Amino acid sequence: MTVAAGSQRVLQRLERLFELGASPHANRPGLSATEEEACGLAAGWMAEAGLTVQRDGAGNVIGRLPGTRPQLPEVWTGSHLDTVPAGGRFDGALGVVAGIEAVAALRERSLRRTVAVAVLRDEEGWRFGRGLFGSRALTGALDPAELDDRDGDGITRREALHALGYAADGPDVGGRETIGAFVELHVEQGPVLARLGAPVGIVEGIVAMSGLEVSFDGRGGHAGTTPMAARADAFAAAAATALALRDAALRIDGAVATVGAVAVTPGAANVVPERAVLSVDVRAPDDPRLAHLEADLHAAAHRCAQEAGCRHAVVRRWQQPAAPMAAPVRAALAHAAQAAGLSAPELLSGAGHDAQSFAAVGIPTGMLFARSLADGVSHTPAEHTDEHAIAIATQVLSAALADLAAS
Ligand code: HGY
Ligand code: MN
Ligand code: MN
Repeated sequence: MTVAAGSQRVLQRLERLFELGASPHANRPGLSATEEEACGLAAGWMAEAGLTVQRDGAGNVIGRLPGTRPQLPEVWTGSHLDTVPAGGRFDGALGVVAGIEAVAALRERSLRRTVAVAVLRDEEGWRFGRGLFGSRALTGALDPAELDDRDGDGITRREALHALGYAADGPDVGGRETIGAFVELHVEQGPVLARLGAPVGIVEGIVAMSGLEVSFDGRGGHAGTTPMAARADAFAAAAATALALRDAALRIDGAVATVGAVAVTPGAANVVPERAVLSVDVRAPDDPRLAHLEADLHAAAHRCAQEAGCRHAVVRRWQQPAAPMAAPVRAALAHAAQAAGLSAPELLSGAGHDAQSFAAVGIPTGMLFARSLADGVSHTPAEHTDEHAIAIATQVLSAALADLAAS
């Protein structure tokens, strides 16, 4: 396979995935019929590439190129095919589609270790409230209770899995011991590589992050007849907290804070809000700075609730520690980039990835970024990268997988 032909095919397949769900953007919620349809396409492409295809209880799809020593721990690549509600072509999908190309390119080699490419389910997590589902099911890191988490329509994760024919019923679908190394290709989702003029970069680590729900309970009332001084306005407390959280993040080097969703009850323009719930996403380059930002959030919520005469609660929904990438995998990627005539810069990932799940249980893990264009915008249809970067990234990933599988 020439790399150019492969990158053409990658772009065509990414377009095919983007068309699923027939909307002007990618909309493949975790464990939805459209994510399942995307997995069906990827399974077909894996089979076409001569890989043996298997699905596990969480709906992960794994395509394998058997090695000469199949009993050895395997070398995996892969990513996700679910998307945010109005997503782009490349987030997750590039790591799956180019991953298939990278593994297929090794068909003629006789490598000691089996090389696999995986589709990992529900990485984004926005539908049921917590992500990295498929990769955490593989590494035994699921909390059984989260199978009863409900989406906005009241469907539980367990019901969604069963509706697709998957039987995951506990913390683990097994398979962790077969994974000897994991290397994820992903678009950078930031502007760094493009500004450096580099087509690819090697991830040194993934930032620490957590998701929290901050709720405020005040007193409903008539918008016209309730004097301002007599109010316990839950949304006013929530809004003040969101602004205080933004200021806190600005004070901590490298930290970011996002309030991506707000629920106000009863939600009528002429009723003083009785209840308001903020969905908060906070991240920082290391665990101590994340803890500092969370402490500031708790303090702000307490202060703003008191000032507004409301009760409040802060519940952490999920947390991922900072995930340094493993030196041997970073070295294999650097060596492969050098062999392609490149010196790939190293950078932190502010975005979360399935790679975190594997790093968290001690599996040697690395990530390769393909540059993002359009100033690094992501989680929107404007997300973009170029064919040259895709071709180089596929080549570097394939060489790094071969290097790790020869050991
Ligand atoms: O939220 C993230 O960083 C990833 O896109 N799930
Ligand atoms: Mn994403
Ligand atoms: Mn992603």
